[in-house]
Amino acid sequence: MPPRNANKDWLIEEPAPPPSRTDALGSKLLIANGYLGYRGTLEEHGPGQRVACTLAGVYDRRGGAWREPVNAPNGLLLRLYDGPTLLSPETRKPRSHRQSLDIRHGVHTRETVFPLVRGGRLTLRIERFASLAEPHQLHLRAVLAADHDCTLMLEAGIDAEVWDINGPHFAGVKSGHAGGLLHVSARTNEGKMVHVVEGLAGLPVAARLEAGPQGALRRARLRLKGGQALVLEKTVCVYTSQDPAGGRLATARDACRRAQARGQAAARAAHARAWDARWADSDVQISGDPAGQRALRYSIYQLLSIAPRSGRASIPARGLSGQVYKGAVFWDTEMFMLPFFNATQPVLARDLVRYRIRTLGGAKRKARSLGYRGAFYAWESQESGDEACTLFNITDVLTGRPLRTYFADKQVHISADVAHALWDYCQQSGDQDLLARGGAEVLAEVARFFLSYCRYNPDRRRYEVLDVTGPDEYHERVHNNAFSAGMARRAVGAALEALAWLKRVRPQAYRRLDARLGLARDLPALRDLHARLYVPEPHPRTGVIEQFSGYHRLEDARPGDLKARLLDPREYLGGGQGLATTTQVIKQADVLALLHFQGGLYSTAVKRANWEFYEPRTEHGSSLSACIYALVAAAIGRGGWAYRYFLKTATVDLRGDAKQTVGSLYIGGTHPAANGGAWMAAVQGFGGLGHDGQGLVLAPALPAAWRSLRYRAAWRGQWVTVHASPRRLVVEADPANAGHCPVRVRGLRRALSAGQRWTLPIRGPLQGPPKRAASKERP
Ligand code: IFM
Repeated sequence: MPPRNANKDWLIEEPAPPPSRTDALGSKLLIANGYLGYRGTLEEHGPGQRVACTLAGVYDRRGGAWREPVNAPNGLLLRLYDGPTLLSPETRKPRSHRQSLDIRHGVHTRETVFPLVRGGRLTLRIERFASLAEPHQLHLRAVLAADHDCTLMLEAGIDAEVWDINGPHFAGVKSGHAGGLLHVSARTNEGKMVHVVEGLAGLPVAARLEAGPQGALRRARLRLKGGQALVLEKTVCVYTSQDPAGGRLATARDACRRAQARGQAAARAAHARAWDARWADSDVQISGDPAGQRALRYSIYQLLSIAPRSGRASIPARGLSGQVYKGAVFWDTEMFMLPFFNATQPVLARDLVRYRIRTLGGAKRKARSLGYRGAFYAWESQESGDEACTLFNITDVLTGRPLRTYFADKQVHISADVAHALWDYCQQSGDQDLLARGGAEVLAEVARFFLSYCRYNPDRRRYEVLDVTGPDEYHERVHNNAFSAGMARRAVGAALEALAWLKRVRPQAYRRLDARLGLARDLPALRDLHARLYVPEPHPRTGVIEQFSGYHRLEDARPGDLKARLLDPREYLGGGQGLATTTQVIKQADVLALLHFQGGLYSTAVKRANWEFYEPRTEHGSSLSACIYALVAAAIGRGGWAYRYFLKTATVDLRGDAKQTVGSLYIGGTHPAANGGAWMAAVQGFGGLGHDGQGLVLAPALPAAWRSLRYRAAWRGQWVTVHASPRRLVVEADPANAGHCPVRVRGLRRALSAGQRWTLPIRGPLQGPPKRAASKERP
């Protein structure tokens, strides 16, 4: 039952999903367009099945509860009743039921065959999409076909009773109808307005229109002729008062009328063209591995569909799949997603970076409130950049008491991650403008933060990063965490480089910034900090970097050992008394993350020693972990492990077996950092894509099963297509390039002119099977 014109290779199919899968499919079959996300639930579903139309960057707080994104009233509601019974797999056992997602063009399809009470059957086939071309629009096309004459009741409209985790978020709802269009305007607790307008075309009879606090509905008695299909087309427009042009009800109504006049076929064609344009640069083609290909494309689909285009929002840790994690933006975006956007969608990358420029004020407020200078970015960031992470973020399942976690105030690496990513974006895009318009200021303020955070140790004549929590959140408040220190040094270095660059290329902008921030006063101190900041080094004999001071003295346990000690399967392993805190078991890649993100500073031998040491000790309690183990495994030639971890990260949302609830708390949703990690593992890991500040660097080594890998990448506006096979590399500069594209392969550098092709031999495939069982826990 693929959607019209769908290519089977791009279809994620769910034949016969039972109602118990509704939650998981809600995330897996998400459609989104950067402005909103719509979960992969069924059209007849409501808040009980966690239907959500999540709005990007629109947040609300009810009372003292966690502030979270707003779910708009559901304009795609469509219900059919056979007598008193709702036709839904939960209430009428279907003869067959399938759902699918066309990831090429972002179309969700369901086809359900229901038996009817008076005999015969109804086939209900519905396609829907969130327009990528017109992000305020959702479209739905329903085909109702009965094999006998029958009468059904139809209910279609806008459901204002939405699912919330910490809601309700609507303090007031006004609904109504005018000129055949239904509308709901909801006012959030914080006073923002959300307007939804719905139009339905194709109804053969007049409908009764009803409006109330629950929403706006049309009801109609449908007499279906056996053998004849009825086609209904829904157009939904969503606007909010937070839109740059200040969306009002009239805006939504006009847009809906215009869209209806244009017709759904035109909307669908524009949507498909917008997707084609994105895939043209972002697709990665693998031959020889259909499962890997599908998982990677699915990961890319997720990233492309949730990327905002406003510069006002960024990508939350659960994308647009709901309100989990307060819809907050973490380091996930900068470290695990931005590499993909930098290489293949520089315009979207710019918007993501602009979000951090826009939220600099929040980061400065946080630093000031904790007694520091500069910018300490929020661990969980919403639209203002103020800290959204609560100090008691987790509930202890044994006592039911809130646990103090040191995420918000001690994960200082977040600021360094933002700086690293911003500078990486500038280098790869050559975007001097962004640097001059706020980028350099972010870098300077982050560097200043570390100037005030790092302590000088006079006995050792070095600066140290003390009392921090690294990516491994099970060990809080540690000293000299290698990742945090390494990233802090990188952030200070980036600020020094960027300021020097700005002074050279935009002297006026530099002078203005200097006058405003008094940069010159801090520069000598920053240089000293950069030169003497202590980053734990590889042990001279073993090559292992100690994750933080004292880590090696902890009990040498493995994740499996801790499992055996649990009193409750949901126990949190970190926090004050968590089981992992006294052991060497870590939550996620930490030293390994440093070895990947600053790969150029460490030898293959050091990477190998640390991969071997930390892999068996890593619980992978975060979906951010697997891709790092894949990337470092690829760098040290461990093809089998690299591939296993690649598949683990690439299939996280396809498997859909991630935990959906912790106690009563819903934690389901998509995992965009893991999706970005899949691209990183495939393209940076196997495809060997990187840059050295002067141009692209390529060093591919494919997994044994891959016959070839093809991807595209941009360097400062010039594009190349890379085609790697086990022993040959072909790099081709786009004929449309306006300038040369510098590329380095094994020490040889070439500036490829437009249309130029460079072919050269490479080192052969990575070795296949893992040489040893690295850990008891399999990826
Ligand atoms: O940012 C991550 C963190 O590293 C581990 N816990 C979940 C967060 C959001 O994905």
